[in-house]
Amino acid sequence: MALSKPLLVVAIDIGTTYSGYAFSFQHEFLADKLKITTNKVWSDGDNHLQTSYKTPTSVLIDPDGHFHSFGYEAETKYPQLPKNKEEKDWLLFRRFKMILYKSEISETMKLESVSGQRFNALSVFAMSVQYLKEHFSRSLQQQVADSEIQYVLTVPAMWDENAKQFMRKAALQSGMPGDQLTIALEPEAASIFCQALLANGRSDDKFCGTVDTTVHEVMSSGHLKELHKASGGGWGGTQVDDQFTDLLVKIFTVKAMKEFGKHHKSDWLELEKEFEINKRRISSNDEQKFSFRLPASLHETFSFQSKCSLEDQVAESGLSRDVRAALKLTTSSPICCDKMRISGKAMQGLMKPTIHNIITHVETLMADPKCRGISHILLVGGFSESPLLQEEFRKTFRSVTVVTPLDAVLSVMKGAVIFGHQPGAIGIRLAAFTYGIRSLSTFVDGEHDPDKLIMIEGERMCEGIFNRFVSVDEEVPYGMETNEHTFNPILFNLILF
Ligand SMILES: Nc1ncnc2c1ncn2[C@@H]1O[C@H](COP(=O)(O)OP(=O)(O)OP(=O)(O)O)[C@@H](O)[C@H]1O
Ligand SMILES: [Mg+2]
Repeated sequence: MALSKPLLVVAIDIGTTYSGYAFSFQHEFLADKLKITTNKVWSDGDNHLQTSYKTPTSVLIDPDGHFHSFGYEAETKYPQLPKNKEEKDWLLFRRFKMILYKSEISETMKLESVSGQRFNALSVFAMSVQYLKEHFSRSLQQQVADSEIQYVLTVPAMWDENAKQFMRKAALQSGMPGDQLTIALEPEAASIFCQALLANGRSDDKFCGTVDTTVHEVMSSGHLKELHKASGGGWGGTQVDDQFTDLLVKIFTVKAMKEFGKHHKSDWLELEKEFEINKRRISSNDEQKFSFRLPASLHETFSFQSKCSLEDQVAESGLSRDVRAALKLTTSSPICCDKMRISGKAMQGLMKPTIHNIITHVETLMADPKCRGISHILLVGGFSESPLLQEEFRKTFRSVTVVTPLDAVLSVMKGAVIFGHQPGAIGIRLAAFTYGIRSLSTFVDGEHDPDKLIMIEGERMCEGIFNRFVSVDEEVPYGMETNEHTFNPILFNLILF
């Protein structure tokens, strides 16, 4: 449900790896659609501030099962917990959004924490929404009545209806009023934002973006028309992270990495953080080198599991040209020499399969007759900031303009704010399903199935006729009634014995 002219719109974006919020007042929106505020600084709970538009999608729950912290704060606190017993009683949940891509979704569904304990998924999602909502309330400089705020929650377009409904339930559980909450589809929101950016967008411009892909035409009214249903796949930054894990497994062996992952969670998180920093630097420059600090616990685990030295192990896995790793214990400091260097080529290799999947998907879309005439490809979302991805897109799609907006990582949140002020921004959508109603019709010989013939008050009727209101892929204009059907209820005489 949406307020008709909300005084303030706030969009909350729970991402796979990062989450955040953005907002704008009605008067700001009327003056400039793009005047949208985002939070730029997040505390890590340790008196350090992290400068970034989003904070990690991580929830820390204390031993009593209560919410402790979210984002950088949760990720900073967890490794500081005393090892063994204490660490086990605290639950850290990361990257849990992925669970909603699976087919069976229920309110009792459980999530697994990084140390393997299970906890109600709906509560973890609700805690996340609540944290961001409260963070936003605290950051607000002006007084606004709660009833004047429109909340917009973003969800992937590819999710099925159950998953979208689950997110809505989580928002309601977090205390968001249902009549002030709308759901926006992530690629649609990004598209709305890009359209607002294309201030001089010509009416025949068409563009598509993100891995959750959408294809829109900018109509002469400035509204967007959906040309192709949202599509995509799980090819994003987290797939590259999985490739890095696979590389570590090749270097250190499956056994050692399993043990390391099981018993040294905090060190594993540190290694992941280092990869995150390095990942963002990967470009097409083969001369680049990437350094990693290797934790002492990885050394101990590897030495315990393996008979050979790390150098020999690297050589055996055929990686000696790309990976230089040294794990040496010294008497003064056990970790001072533990370094790993990975070549630029090998790091590019971790990105290439994901980039290839995205490009192949976009190529297929571009070949669809419905998408003929596309002039711009807009890359949005954090992963689109990868220089390598951008370069590959420009090389592959030479006849169109590939654009990465300055605020690529914020496009979903900002677009969702615009959508909250202007729900008709998507002027025409394609129906995701065929909708209709089961009814009875007068039986027509030769047209209807004789098995479906029934007699009602002496009249020959056909039962189980599907009266179609709208067909899948049909264009549905925003807020417009397209068809009118009249149905009469059948009156039966019920005789109860
Ligand atoms: N410069 C960069 N190079 C490569 N990857 C990057 C870069 N910047 C961000 N990323 C990756 O982008 C991802 C985060 O992007 P974003 O915040 O848009 O995703 P999300 O909202 O968490 O996920 P989703 O929208 O798919 O649920 C992370 O995997 C991050 O590592
Ligand atoms: Mg996102």
